[in-house]
Amino acid sequence: AFDISSLRDQTGYVTLDRGYKNTGATKSAITFLDGEEGILQYRGYAIEDLAAKASFLEVAYLLIYGELPTKEQYAVFETAIRRHTLVNEDMRKIFDGFPVKAHPMGVLSSLVSAMSAFYSDIEGSSEEDKTDLHIIRLLAKLPTIATWSYKRSLGHPMNYPKNQLDYIPNFLNMMFSLPVEDYKIDPVVVEALNVLLILHADHEQNCSTSTVRLVGSSQANIYSSISAGISALWGPLHGGANQEVIEMLEAIRADGGDVSKYVDMAKNAKTTGFRLFGFGHRVYKNFDPRAKIIKKAADDVLSKLGVNDPVLEIAKGLEEAALHDDYFISRKLYPNVDFYSGIIYRALGIPTNMFTVMFAIGRLPGWIAQWKEMREQKEPIGRPRQIYTGATLREFTPLSKR
Ligand code: ACO
Repeated sequence: AFDISSLRDQTGYVTLDRGYKNTGATKSAITFLDGEEGILQYRGYAIEDLAAKASFLEVAYLLIYGELPTKEQYAVFETAIRRHTLVNEDMRKIFDGFPVKAHPMGVLSSLVSAMSAFYSDIEGSSEEDKTDLHIIRLLAKLPTIATWSYKRSLGHPMNYPKNQLDYIPNFLNMMFSLPVEDYKIDPVVVEALNVLLILHADHEQNCSTSTVRLVGSSQANIYSSISAGISALWGPLHGGANQEVIEMLEAIRADGGDVSKYVDMAKNAKTTGFRLFGFGHRVYKNFDPRAKIIKKAADDVLSKLGVNDPVLEIAKGLEEAALHDDYFISRKLYPNVDFYSGIIYRALGIPTNMFTVMFAIGRLPGWIAQWKEMREQKEPIGRPRQIYTGATLREFTPLSKR
């Protein structure tokens, strides 16, 4: 029989930390997070400050290049993004190959992966310049690809970017304008989206970001790495939770609005398999500072836009019931960033199947910054170990004898 101790002698012992609950994968200077105190900072700036005072592209620059841009740096960065919003016309044809009912997240990750085929060679420039151009292309084209995936799902004609518009208005115009009617840009909507995108811009080594770093650690190109991150984000335990939250709130409403029934079901998650989406977080154990900002923003935006969404009341009732329940208190389960974001997206007219896409547009600068840092730190290829639990050595039986 095979003696496992001989294998141990050769390989040493490995630590087993399923889900990496307590394993640091890297050193990073991008985002600071204190889960006990509910603190989140990008490059040393408090999330509350950035959400109140900065623009999304300023925050993108900060995350990617380490400092807030000067006026001149910002003008160069912003102008470059404006100039690169168009996507290669041949990429448009790829959209026609998808079924109309395709989820926009699947389309988004495929098209970002396809960017590596369309934008691979940049002749005669330094590695740094090449990376900068890839970064600009990603930031510029993601909203175009995102809105086209949505237009495709409606069977509507796609809108080309209008580069006289700023980043968020350009996105809104591509998303909502029709050949028969231009979308009127409302500053309340622009401001609300600005805050949401900033809140989502980075969150250190979460599932999608770790995916981007892991894929990039094999020296895969930035488009493939970020496409993998988009796929990781889609899962309902990660960014996909924002869509799940609204669907859950709708279901509660359709079921008569009895929140306590759903709190009870979630308390028995092990048997019912039902979790309260938008509750709980791997790192935040007191509150999610982003959820605090979003909850207030949801109230403000709905009242400014004059939207009366009964689902907001259900959400507040659910939060209230859960926060007074021992099951949730003892496990330190609080609303996370996804709990109220969907309510704002809905008020802005963004359809449910686009919620996670919005998250991806927001998270893009973080993925880019983390990919860039990983490469600059010359990190080794990521390669976790395992504890083998399978069969020991056995003899092969030929097919004729089985
Ligand atoms: N509803 C009911 N029970 C929950 C919930 C929930 N939403 N979240 C965690 N629990 C319970 C678990 O059943 C477990 O109970 P136990 O101690 O009796 O075994 C305990 O709380 C710990 O939960 P874990 O799953 O071990 O915690 P983990 O850190 O692995 O998971 C996660 C964190 C994935 C966010 C989890 O809380 C969850 O599934 N939440 C719902 C999905 C969600 O909102 N995801 C978005 C996260 S934020 C983001 O990605 C942007």
